[in-house]
Amino acid sequence: MDNDIARVLYSKADIKEACERLGKQLTKDYAGKRPLILSVLTGAMFFTTDVVREFDVYSEIDFIDVSSYKGGMESTGTVDLVSDLSEDVNGRDVLIIEDIVDTGRTLSYIVDLLYSRNAKSVKICTFLDKPAGRVVEAKADYVGFTVPKEFVVGYGLDYQGYYRNLPYVGVLKPEVYE
Ligand code: PRP
Ligand code: MN
Ligand code: MG
Repeated sequence: MDNDIARVLYSKADIKEACERLGKQLTKDYAGKRPLILSVLTGAMFFTTDVVREFDVYSEIDFIDVSSYKGGMESTGTVDLVSDLSEDVNGRDVLIIEDIVDTGRTLSYIVDLLYSRNAKSVKICTFLDKPAGRVVEAKADYVGFTVPKEFVVGYGLDYQGYYRNLPYVGVLKPEVYE
């Protein structure tokens, strides 16, 4: 897999540092609350496990599986709910954990869904934020790194389902997708 990577954007050490920093901030901000952590499958699985272990607050963990890229490099424009969460969010402080916010469609879909079910508060912690990609309004409250408008893989982020298990984030060589 390493052979397909043109450039590393964030190393294992960079990622560890970001998780520690975000975990500290979240621990302060959620002190005294009992949030429901909502991890967005599949991309956010790696970031979720790392960041929640830096988060020293009583919290439950749930998952929602939504998909809109279908493995490709461009958003299809529609967000499909593959699998709903299991908890009742009524009256809960929900903390969404995402790997990346790009067009904002996925996040906006989930935030609307949670508020329609009467969540008390909804905040977003994303590993990567790509503000240049926004199509709909979506704002993350906690951001690991702000990335340029480039297609990135690794640490949960895929191209055609692959590269999620790279322990770092990188940019693919053009010949991989050309
Ligand atoms: C990716 C990524 C985010 C979303 C961000 O998911 O993991 O969830 O897209 O893009 P957006 O802001 O343009 O909506 P994807 O649809 O690829 O599903 P996956 O997590 O299963 O790979
Ligand atoms: Mn995703
Ligand atoms: Mg994907």
